[in-house]
Amino acid sequence: MPGPASGLTDGFARFKSCRLHPSAKGISNMKDREGPLHNAGINTRLSHLGNDPAEFHGFVNPPVVHASTVLFPNARAMETRGQKYTYATRGTPTTDALCEAIDALEGSAGTILVPSGLAAVTVPFLAFLSAGDHALIVDSVYGPTRHFCDTMLKRLGVEVDYYDPLVGAAIEALIKPNTKLVHTEAPGSNTFEMQDIPAIAAIAHKHGAVVTMDNTWATPVYFKPLDFGADISIHAATKYPSGHSDILMGTVSANAKHWPQLQEANITLGICGAPDDAYQILRGLRTMGVRLERHYESALTIAKWLEDREEVATVLHPALPSFPSHELWKRDFKGASGIFSFVLAVDAPEKFKAKAHAFLDALQIFGLGWSWGGFESLAVHVNLNDRRICKAPAEGPVIRLQIGLEDVVDIKADIERGFAAANAV
Ligand SMILES: Cc1ncc(COP(=O)(O)O)c(C=O)c1O
Repeated sequence: MPGPASGLTDGFARFKSCRLHPSAKGISNMKDREGPLHNAGINTRLSHLGNDPAEFHGFVNPPVVHASTVLFPNARAMETRGQKYTYATRGTPTTDALCEAIDALEGSAGTILVPSGLAAVTVPFLAFLSAGDHALIVDSVYGPTRHFCDTMLKRLGVEVDYYDPLVGAAIEALIKPNTKLVHTEAPGSNTFEMQDIPAIAAIAHKHGAVVTMDNTWATPVYFKPLDFGADISIHAATKYPSGHSDILMGTVSANAKHWPQLQEANITLGICGAPDDAYQILRGLRTMGVRLERHYESALTIAKWLEDREEVATVLHPALPSFPSHELWKRDFKGASGIFSFVLAVDAPEKFKAKAHAFLDALQIFGLGWSWGGFESLAVHVNLNDRRICKAPAEGPVIRLQIGLEDVVDIKADIERGFAAANAV
């Protein structure tokens, strides 16, 4: 029987991103792996990366391979694991297609898939930290990451300190002889402080620490952490890559130096992404660029509009020139996604909660829900009580908005409904 690629290879080779055995990752040249897509525009890349119709009878999308066992042709092949796929925790054609697309976008040597964005943070922490080590974590970190550090990491004997997101090269004063990991997230969760990633990475590397970055906000479309000195790029693919509020998945991508240890931890822990979810994330990538353009434009339009509203004390959006760390965003990022916060102007702290709740309860288009990156607008009254350094603003409650794909005029009308209700309290 002819192989699946028989007779199709030439015609479909145009957008072929050559598939590699995982062991080859890290030694291959990214340009060769991507072929003609290397210099293509981002939407062309997002449309074709990780996709090789020639391998699947010409079908545009990869098959969803449901698997645990993979059979070997003989005992020798089984003993030496001498074939591309050996067991489904170590990859399938579906998960490989997504990993290859992410590697191409991140410029990474290898990517692992995990079942959630939170696992995309905890797995590399477990990969690179041991009892007796010290980790530096940005204070504007995603809340559940802090919870993991303060509970499980602590229990495993890892010491954690939180640092100011605006610390830059002054992070050197916080480095200890046992500092093994510096975790960054830019912009920060809920308050959106930017970070000087190259400056922090240079100091961390000088002292032998690995640099991880939660890059969920920007996606690799707007920021590529490995190009700016990070060793590990972390994504809640749950957000923009999924885009439809129906999938949980995380991706962790490493540079060549750190890929073997990350892959080893992934195999050791047995925490792997499911094929249906990988398929849906790959599907989401195809439209992520155009969705992001819309999120970027709508969110910035609304952020600027909010700046002029008397109900608003401050708008926390890195792409606004008024934002304190805007220059870092301008220097390093290619764009902004659709989530930011604003501080509702409230004269007395005892009214913060009532006004915030009145605002949220009056919204009809915005949903009240966690997460972001989907097609629909969402609003949250942010709780910053766990912060050690970046304390909550004194001017009023912080409201986080995820601006969806709806029409801006309708989103503004909804926010106005919220303001009217808050004013009435
Ligand atoms: C910055 C950031 N990282 C990671 C996560 C975790 O993603 P997940 O919800 O898939 O666990 C989130 C979720 O809101 C997030 O905002």
